Amino acid sequence: MELNGKRVALGVTGGIAAYKAAELVRLLIKQGASVQVTMTEAATHFVTAVTFQALSGQRVFSDQWDPRVANNMAHIDLSRRADVLLIAPASADFIAKVAHGLADDLLSTLSLARDCPLLVAPAMNRQMWENPATQRNVATLRGDGVVILGPDCGEQACGESGAGRMLEAADIVDDLIAFFQPKPLIGKKLLLTAGPTFEAIDPVRGITNLSSGKMGFAVARAAREAGAEVTLVCGPVSQEVPRGIRRIDVTSALQMHAEVMKCAASQDIFVAVAAVADYRPKAAAPHKIKKDGGGAPAIELVINPDILAEVAALPAPPLCVGFAAESRNLADYAQKKRVAKKIPLIVGNLIDDGFGGDENTLVLYDQSGATPLPRGAKIELARALVGHIAKLLAAHR
Ligand code: PMT
Repeated sequence: MELNGKRVALGVTGGIAAYKAAELVRLLIKQGASVQVTMTEAATHFVTAVTFQALSGQRVFSDQWDPRVANNMAHIDLSRRADVLLIAPASADFIAKVAHGLADDLLSTLSLARDCPLLVAPAMNRQMWENPATQRNVATLRGDGVVILGPDCGEQACGESGAGRMLEAADIVDDLIAFFQPKPLIGKKLLLTAGPTFEAIDPVRGITNLSSGKMGFAVARAAREAGAEVTLVCGPVSQEVPRGIRRIDVTSALQMHAEVMKCAASQDIFVAVAAVADYRPKAAAPHKIKKDGGGAPAIELVINPDILAEVAALPAPPLCVGFAAESRNLADYAQKKRVAKKIPLIVGNLIDDGFGGDENTLVLYDQSGATPLPRGAKIELARALVGHIAKLLAAHR
């Protein structure tokens, strides 16, 4: 319920992507938002008002002379009651209207008569999108502080392929959730590691652990929402990376180390969430190890590089944050790791809480003591952590 209590005025304009707006309403409601739909006359040729009314549970408007509105001031009422006006899909024609301040129907009128932010998700044929007139209009909107969501690239309803597809409904919802988050990391670069590593014993076996990557991916998403440019180096996980994050997949600790060290010096922040294997087999067997009746094989292990400690030891290191998963003595062990790795902040979690699930309980340890974050969804904890990191960074530089 990440949009709990938010009032979304959703404008739907005429285009085949209008059918996706029905799914958008459903997802917005699922996240706790209330949705008031206004359609252009053209939109009603693609989807009926009844569809949106059933999904939103609210009356749908399309006519500025609607006799249901007592004072004929629907254009003012609809935008005044909203936290955001979202136009999805926004046709080329509608974008042109808003860019030029036209108000010749209900939706364009309420786009002009509003005191809430305007977000626009364009949807049109690729040539319409690439047309210099559309590009000028979009630039005008951006200059006016309007947030443009997408568009995507790919197959279009007309059979052509290119830029102009409306973002998927789930992506628009993610962007809207991000829009409402504070932006303390704008202009900052954040690098992080996530997931487990896999240290090969032979071509089919290896040493790994139960990290799912969920905590690290949540931190990546929260940092992106906060405005940072995020690079995520992750071990083998099945998580999907949120849009707008640079993802580098690795398998072993040595690969993770190499990728991190390539770019760590140019970062403002480094957050090590990964559960990196401390040891790896000295040499992976080139072929599957066979049972030969001679008992269990001895596997010689060597120590992996400590990625976090190495980044913290750079001549001008980014602000370094570690994680510690412990089965007992959390405060003591986490603080010892923080001091050993020479980092200002370490995030402690108990193994039973941290690994695999969607929730966690975290405690932030720095040199002045402990700050517990109450149990919650990993994304909520990640947002709190990112807020804490932003304050440290501001005090640090
Ligand atoms: O992925 P999930 O299922 O959501 O689970 C999340 C988590 C439990 C894995 C995560 O919250 C967590 O606690 N990660 C750290 C696990 C741990 O205890 O790591 P460690 O004690 O081995 O290392 C301490 C710190 O040094 C960590 O920041 C680690 O990334 C870093 N490290 C460790 C070893 C190494 N060779 N290089 C490192 O950078």
